[in-house]
Amino acid sequence: MERPEPELIRQSWQAVNRSPLEHGTVLFTRLFDLEPDLLPLFQYNCRRYSSSEDCLSSPEFLDHIRKVMLVIDAAVTNVEDLSSLEEYLAGLGRKHRAVGVKLSSFSTVGEALLYMLEKCLGPAFTPATRAAWRQLYGAVVQAMSRGWDGE
Ligand code: HEM
Repeated sequence: MERPEPELIRQSWQAVNRSPLEHGTVLFTRLFDLEPDLLPLFQYNCRRYSSSEDCLSSPEFLDHIRKVMLVIDAAVTNVEDLSSLEEYLAGLGRKHRAVGVKLSSFSTVGEALLYMLEKCLGPAFTPATRAAWRQLYGAVVQAMSRGWDGE
């Protein structure tokens, strides 16, 4: 896979990372629209959410959004050498497998990520920037996919 262009990634992430919770919420709202079956995987204190609004406003879920944005931030910081995150990402994959997430759902997360970037950046989300993000996200998912090895 081609390496993502570091400058395009860093510049575009700056705008998103000014308000990570807001943009993370756009990402997850889109994700639940695309794949509503992911909603029941978030169960805090055995509570099931009946709607995505319900889930998106819970403090534990907002913490998960912060965690997701921090992982993406780490990938952006290490965009030139993602191998330093490989072990961490494989472990993160294992955790998600353990809570019942299918590897294929991470493709939908990728769609939702690109949607959020487009909403945030508008015309600045050029085809070259989109391609760079596809490559970066692809590399992150590839590293996480080791958590599903041996399934
Ligand atoms: C398919 C969508 C996803 C689902 C259904 C999901 C679900 C979960 C659940 C149920 C937990 C455990 C409870 C919690 O810590 O809130 C968790 C933890 C976590 N998730 Fe996700 N997640 C998804 C996507 C992601 C993505 C895309 C990332 C980052 C790239 C991410 C990063 C994390 C982190 C950092 C933790 C904490 C792990 C730890 O405790 O060490 N998640 N996720």
